[in-house]
Amino acid sequence: MRQILFVDACMRGPEASRTARLCRRFLAEYAALDPETRVLRRDLTGAELPVLTDRLSRERDELARTGADSPLLEPAREVAGADLIVVGAPYWDLSFPAALKVYLEWASCLGVTFRYTREGVQVGMSRARHLVYLTTGGGPVLAQNLGYDYLRAWAAMMGVGDTLCLAAENLDIQGADVEAILSRAEEKIPALARRAAG
Ligand SMILES: Cc1cc2nc3c(=O)[nH]c(=O)nc-3n(C[C@H](O)[C@H](O)[C@H](O)COP(=O)(O)O)c2cc1C
Repeated sequence: MRQILFVDACMRGPEASRTARLCRRFLAEYAALDPETRVLRRDLTGAELPVLTDRLSRERDELARTGADSPLLEPAREVAGADLIVVGAPYWDLSFPAALKVYLEWASCLGVTFRYTREGVQVGMSRARHLVYLTTGGGPVLAQNLGYDYLRAWAAMMGVGDTLCLAAENLDIQGADVEAILSRAEEKIPALARRAAG
């Protein structure tokens, strides 16, 4: 059974968020291709994870070193164990909501999601073959998609093979036909899901 990790940073919640709508559609398409898939949703909308401090980071790394069972290691363990990572995040202030950055810091854990060889080369440990980044923006996104650029580099560090992005842009521009923009983005989802499943 394949495990999808759905990192939900759609801060306005499933009803209001247009990004969440794209995520639902993607997960449904993917499930149709692979009905055995299990989805683990990491809900970031309550911003419950604390900002990583030096003390917390040392504590977490020590727990990872000893192989302990701790909620502090859950973000890293879920990234390490996912076959596919789906990140849903609106375009906020040129990138994505801070709650997602906090999560990514928790998930970047020595000995769980990355390690170093004897020669000092950093190697990612996630078994995920793809990370899919779904986003929507009030204005243009793709011209300066800094959130995705960061996620792509982060995924490479974690050992994720390939990163894919779908963005619905210009949703808040006066007179925008929001439904048409979202529908056009949704039309691309079946192909995206096939690629992510491949
Ligand atoms: C805090 C905040 C910051 C935002 N920053 C940007 C921005 O930098 N550029 C932009 O084009 N839109 C920006 N927007 C608009 C959102 O990208 C847009 O409304 C998006 O579709 C929201 O996604 P959602 O419907 O999933 O919540 C921002 C919205 C909020 C609430």
